[in-house]
Amino acid sequence: MPGLDGVASPIMTHIIDGKAIAQEIRAGIRREIETLKAAGHRPPGLTVVLVGDNPASEVYVRNKEKAAKEAGFTGGETRLPAATSEAELLARIAVLNSDAAVDGILVQLPLPSHISEPRVIEAIHPDKDVDGFHPMNMGRLVAGLPAPAPCTPLGVMEMLRRLPCDLEGKELVVLGRSNIVGKPMALLALHKKAGANATVTVCHSATSRLAEVTRRADVIVAAIGRARFLKADMVKPGAVVIDVGINRQEDGKLCGDVDYEPVSKIASAITPVPGGVGPMTIAMLLKNTLDCYRRRTGA
Ligand code: GUN
Repeated sequence: MPGLDGVASPIMTHIIDGKAIAQEIRAGIRREIETLKAAGHRPPGLTVVLVGDNPASEVYVRNKEKAAKEAGFTGGETRLPAATSEAELLARIAVLNSDAAVDGILVQLPLPSHISEPRVIEAIHPDKDVDGFHPMNMGRLVAGLPAPAPCTPLGVMEMLRRLPCDLEGKELVVLGRSNIVGKPMALLALHKKAGANATVTVCHSATSRLAEVTRRADVIVAAIGRARFLKADMVKPGAVVIDVGINRQEDGKLCGDVDYEPVSKIASAITPVPGGVGPMTIAMLLKNTLDCYRRRTGA
């Protein structure tokens, strides 16, 4: 990029420390729970349900569990064998729905292929849907009404807010249209409210001239699940780049959806993988659970 004297000047890239931001949020939630308990209220409860033995899901669930426990939530993990029938899982969810001490229910996805994910998501009571995946909560998100929103895009919004990167009037390009990340990310950024109000484009596998679109972006959120997909020549110098991808490389190491080394040389801010968006997802899960608890109990 030309500097004031016309000579190319390097961009000082801010590496966004998602781990540190998440720790701060988690510490704040822990303090809130301590205050609630000191006032005689019960602590909030979160139950994480894992069906089967997907190794990646096991790691995610363990991390969620650990974070919840550290923050002072009650509850725990419900582990069910891979052969669990859909009816058995729905019955378990019904029990959790009617358990007054459970404020949040999270069923880790993906589920074994013989179980319908939409049916399971719809079975979770919307007031306990800490993932924000229930169609009722999705609808409320579309309408801009208060509701738990999916944790990963919420975490991205919180990171941008703290950067600070005000999305108002900015071009935001989301790569990926999943229900978990891409679509809710676009909606959160589109809302006419402080920190949001962006001009949003959602790209996907059928988008033509993709690099032309991404090069327009002031902020890019990459969530397509393809290792190192976003190359430096697809990014406008000075853009903010948020990498939601977690891909396992052949050497066993993790990498994101962004070609990190070259892109980090031209972005003004970028998230690393690991240590970027991942920890924020867990922090937002705790926040959603505390919000559900407050809405349910009025505490
Ligand atoms: N699998 C991958 N991400 C998520 C998530 O945010 N929530 C649940 N329940 N499952 C997932």
